[in-house]
Amino acid sequence: MAPKYPDYLFVNIDCLTYAGNLFNLESISDLPNYKFEKVDITDFPALEKCFAENQIDSVIHLAAESHVDRSIIGPAKFIRTNIAGTFYLLELARKTSERDKSFRFLHVSTDEVYGSAESGLQFNEESPFNPNSPYAASKAAADHLARSYYQTYGLNIVITNCTNNFGPYQFPEKLFPLVINNALNNKAIPVYGDGKHERDWLYVDDHCNALDFVFHSGKAGESYNVSSGSLMTNIELVKRICGILDKKLGGGKREKLIQFVTDRPGHDRRYALDSSKIKNELEWDPSNKFETALESTVDWYLKNENWLKSCTSGEYMKYYETMYANR
Ligand code: TYD
Repeated sequence: MAPKYPDYLFVNIDCLTYAGNLFNLESISDLPNYKFEKVDITDFPALEKCFAENQIDSVIHLAAESHVDRSIIGPAKFIRTNIAGTFYLLELARKTSERDKSFRFLHVSTDEVYGSAESGLQFNEESPFNPNSPYAASKAAADHLARSYYQTYGLNIVITNCTNNFGPYQFPEKLFPLVINNALNNKAIPVYGDGKHERDWLYVDDHCNALDFVFHSGKAGESYNVSSGSLMTNIELVKRICGILDKKLGGGKREKLIQFVTDRPGHDRRYALDSSKIKNELEWDPSNKFETALESTVDWYLKNENWLKSCTSGEYMKYYETMYANR
């Protein structure tokens, strides 16, 4: 597929923590308009140098510590990266926008800022924030900061809040690849609490497409919810993944590996977003059917078992054992 924006220079800034992996970028790393910079967003001087050298004129900010369980074990990194890191990016954007008023900043966030949704209800962009985990609180703080830079300095900001993502290359601490990895290794599949927590699953390509729409057409100072409407309980999702693996690999029912474990503290029961604003105002729609995306994602992990193995050696196992030791 031809690159969509050949006239843009894309500078990918990442400090490559445990979940970062240059292999994930192999298919784009040779493109003439792509460049990788190993920079930590909490290192302001390094970030400033990188902005100046590359004449950065827009930011799509996805850099974050993103795993709720890790934020419960150790919140400090979340405060540093997600709040201070966002602040440094906003500061650089503010400085640059003094000479270049068109400087655009897309801040990418999560549905978790709204907290748990009552049965039958969906949050819209006017709903109050009510974060329940250190991760969610750190993202909510960053969203507020981003909005304040629009109100106070007139920075050209747009914000998105998305539901749970799934797709290739997702680090196997997240439910989706964790289920596949454990099933492939005949290990117990931990389901928190009664498994009836609900999540709305958004395919990563649809999310990227939504970011493209909001970055190019979203109204400054506004936020947009992004969801696909594929809402289901965790136990249903886990059983569906197991069913696909059974069909593809044979060898009996993988559902037998499911183990209900002690619930996550502060675990939000239900996430549900109303995304009519992005659909009506920007004409975005998720173009991938959930069932098709689910199956192709399972296929990707089956074809890339070595990738899964490389992610789950070393540091991951230490985390995994700490995580499940007392459950
Ligand atoms: P996760 O992928 O961690 O995303 P988030 O916490 O951002 O929603 O988890 C998705 C859901 O799956 C969440 O309700 C917690 C649950 N879960 C399990 O039941 N078992 C697991 O091993 C993991 C990682 C998550």
